[in-house]
Formats: sequence, structure tokens, C-alpha cells
Amino acid sequence: MSNLPATFRAYVVDKPEGGAFTRGLRDLTPAELPPGEVTVRVAWSSVNFKDGLAAREDGRVARSYPLVPGIDLAGEVAASDDPAFQVGTEVLANGYDIGTARHGGYAELARLPAGWVVPTPEGLTARDAMAIGTAGFTAAMSVAALEERGLRPGDGPVLVTGASGGVGSAAVAILASRGHEVWAATGKADEHDRLRDLGAAGFLTRDEVTAPGRPLDSTRWAGAVDTVGSATLPFVLRTLRLGAAVASSGNASGSDLVTTVFPFILRGVALLGMDSANMAIGPRRALWGRLATDLLPRGLGDGITEVDLSAVEPALDAIVAGQARGRWVVRI
Ligand SMILES: NC(=O)c1ccc[n+]([C@@H]2O[C@H](COP(=O)([O-])OP(=O)(O)OC[C@H]3O[C@@H](n4cnc5c(N)ncnc54)[C@H](OP(=O)(O)O)[C@@H]3O)[C@@H](O)[C@H]2O)c1
Repeated sequence: MSNLPATFRAYVVDKPEGGAFTRGLRDLTPAELPPGEVTVRVAWSSVNFKDGLAAREDGRVARSYPLVPGIDLAGEVAASDDPAFQVGTEVLANGYDIGTARHGGYAELARLPAGWVVPTPEGLTARDAMAIGTAGFTAAMSVAALEERGLRPGDGPVLVTGASGGVGSAAVAILASRGHEVWAATGKADEHDRLRDLGAAGFLTRDEVTAPGRPLDSTRWAGAVDTVGSATLPFVLRTLRLGAAVASSGNASGSDLVTTVFPFILRGVALLGMDSANMAIGPRRALWGRLATDLLPRGLGDGITEVDLSAVEPALDAIVAGQARGRWVVRI
């Protein structure tokens, strides 16, 4: 590991025992990295809702301090004790404990167990991979789950909630490029043009998807991707068609869920839980391969904002405030 620098830059959040919460740039040494076989020279990371929470004292995401947030990272292998990962190999990683219980992507170096590392698929640069990031990964996971359960293009409208956000925008792009008729629920009317460019065919306002309703309402959706939770998921459940499913990944507006069992027992509706953090490495590498090919979220480019490590903090605060418009990538 002698080719590693003596120190490297990192964005660190900290709350020492009995001390105040702090966050900001620091120099770390390689000895401060957690154990693992593969040390990555990080080139790009991204900003996800979970990163915003990890960087707040009341976010309830950080499980150890000090912590380098950043649940996504991509770069090249700088040192390796595993023959499967040679120095110089382009790799990425997302999920598991990265950026929550061990140091993540907001640093020039990261160290990971080899069993968490994904060789960057052919056709994706490190920046592309981070423009996709956990948000795009979760969107692809959601679309794959809906299609595995039988959703086909031509079945009818598919609803995406929180459509202007990271997961939502990618879900709109992936569904549209696979030929589905996509409806976007968004609280931001000024995002309609961008979402239309990604392939949205129709729009719902945030008020429409949060209004209280009857236990069952008129059926509309052949499938749905919900990133918002709280009052929105009950709306989705009571308006899904017979036998349709919603892939539920998010709680951007809250984690409560008040519904009835009627969508399940009278319409055979399914609630599919999406947990991208704990997907096993085999399916994870396979899904990243699909993200470079048939599940590539096309056209996200206009919604990508680039920041460097010294400017990551305002982006972290903005995403928690619901101001996301597409994705932020972080140049390390
Ligand atoms: N389960 C998993 O594996 C997984 C993976 C990634 C993300 N997530 C979760 O999925 C959700 C979306 O993540 P993301 O990275 O796409 O976040 P994001 O970029 O911030 O998008 C969330 C979107 O939700 C909408 N929204 C509706 N009500 C909101 C409210 N009260 N406050 C804030 N936003 C509200 C907004 O879109 P509109 O204005 O368009 O409505 C917002 O842009 C988060 O809860 C995140 O923790 C889960």
C-alpha cells in the first residue's frame, strides 16, 4: 500500500462523545480508513437523500462518528489485497454500510471489502456511474421488480412519484425508454419540461397525490414507483389496477403509512419493498451491468449538477429540503 498518499482530503461529519456536532473538510491518513481488501482512489461520488440525512445531526442515518458520508463512489483501485481487483481497475460501490457506518465516497480514498466492489461496467465512465448512483440503481431495481412481476409496455400508465428527484427522474427515464406510458407526480410545475424530455406523458400535482380519499378509488395505474411514502403511497395503493404493483423505495415526505387492506384483498395489489443497500453483490453487479445497457436512464444529462468536495454541503442541505432537480455529482 506504499503508493498511497500520506494524507488525503475528506468531508467529515463528527459528534465526539459528549461533544458538539461538526462537519467540514479535514485531512485524514490511510490508517484512519476502515479495514478492507480494496482501497479506491475516488474520482466521483454523488448526493442522495440519505447523504443529506447522514450530514445532519438529527438525520438518524450516521451510525458511527467520525464519518465520511457518500453512499456512492467510483474511481480506480489504488491498492488491493484481492487478486480479482488489480491496481488501476475501474470500480464503483454503493450501499451496504458505505457512508453510514463506515467511511464513504466524500474523500480522495475509500477502503472496502472486496465483496462490496463492483467492476465499473463497460460503457460507463466513473462520472456516468455516479450520475446514476444509488438513485438510478434504485430506480432500475424498481423497474426490474415491476417487470419481473409481469408489467409490460402497453399495459397502461405507470405512475412515478417524487418525479423530479434522483430516484424519480431516473425511473421516468428508464420506464419511458422501455416503452411504458409514464405519468409523473411532482410538486414542481417548472420541472415538467425536463420530465417531458425524459419521457413523461402526463403529470399529477403533489396535491392530487396527497389528498385524502376513499379506501378504494377509480383504478388508473398498471404499476407505480413510489419514492415519497407518507400520504402519497396510500393514494398509489388505492388507485392501482387489479393485480398491479407499486415498488416502494422512499420516504421523502415521511415514513408513516396509513392505508386499508382493501387494495390488497379486493384488487390483489402488491407492495414491493426496495432495499438497495442490502442487495447481495452478485445481483448488484448484474443490475449495474443492466444499468449500462437495457436499464440505462437515458437523457439525465440536463438534470446533472456538478459540485466539488468543498461545495457538497449546500447540496446536502438542499436535497433534504426537497429542492432536488435531478442529480448532483461530486467531483473528488
Ligand atoms: N430504498 C432504497 O434502497 C432507497 C434508495 C435510494 C433512495 N431512497 C429513498 O428514496 C427517496 C428519494 O430519494 P432521492 O435520492 O430521489 O431524493 P430526492 O432527489 O430528494 O427526491 C425526492 C423527491 O420527493 C419529492 N417530495 C415529495 N414530498 C416531499 C417532501 N415533503 N419533502 C421532500 N421531498 C418531497 C420531491 O419531488 P417532487 O417535487 O417532484 O414531488 C423530491 O424531489 C428518499 O426517501 C430516499 O431516502 C431509498
